[in-house]
Amino acid sequence: PVVGVVLAGGIGQRVGLRTPKQLLKIAGKPILEHTLALFDGAPEIDEILVVMAPGHTADAEKMVARLDKGGTVIEGGASRTESTWRALQALGDRECNVLLHDAVRPLLEQRIVTECVRALETYTGVDVAIPSADTVVVAEPTPEGEVIREIPDRAFLRRGQTPQCFRLSVIREAYQRAFADPEFLLHPPTDDCGVMLRYLPDEPIAIVPGSEHNMKVTHPLDVYLADKLFQLGSSGAPAASPEVLRAGLAGRTVVVFGGS
Ligand code: CTP
Repeated sequence: PVVGVVLAGGIGQRVGLRTPKQLLKIAGKPILEHTLALFDGAPEIDEILVVMAPGHTADAEKMVARLDKGGTVIEGGASRTESTWRALQALGDRECNVLLHDAVRPLLEQRIVTECVRALETYTGVDVAIPSADTVVVAEPTPEGEVIREIPDRAFLRRGQTPQCFRLSVIREAYQRAFADPEFLLHPPTDDCGVMLRYLPDEPIAIVPGSEHNMKVTHPLDVYLADKLFQLGSSGAPAASPEVLRAGLAGRTVVVFGGS
């Protein structure tokens, strides 16, 4: 079975409104409701688990009650990593596949879900990423500001999206090791593949091509952009064979070394 986990435990500080951004309306519906509808309609997904910002679980429960598949709502933690950890604990020690998706990526395409679930037949971890149009520079702080330390070859760089997909027992093992490490919460990776890469470095993580439409609503402008994209209708990126993620950089830029 496949469990779709919708991570909606954040408060959306960078959007900066009193309402968490996942509850803002775009194209007539709250962002979270769009995302839940995608999971509800995805034939590969058997169960839905929502990790919701504390104080807002009633909103999520109302939305989940209207889904064909139903679902469970739990409270999120203080960081995205802690919200994921709560979801993994809520799933218990059964074996299944999990898709961990940002609630604030409401333009996910069915094509990506299908390819992720297919890649899980071969890999225990799967990321979704797109090439970087911008050159990415590694910055080094100086007393005056910053200088460039390094410019990695853009051909090997990808921008990480979600869902990030795993065999439950494997990602749970990575998280157990992470939370047993006193260093972990001082420098947590920004996403779940980062946890797997750091604590189970021998498990290759496949990369499924994402899409420019699968944007994360992060800043106020993104609310407007996501609304416009809904009006245009989403179109998928071309399919390609999975690559293998072998090393990570800070943030959500990933480095790719060759095909699988
Ligand atoms: N998330 C979560 N639990 C947290 C923090 C974030 O489940 N404690 C979720 C968010 O709800 C979002 C996704 O992780 O769907 C991506 O995180 P981000 O865009 O950083 O969301 P926020 O933390 O809400 O935004 P900000 O950093 O601006 O406060």
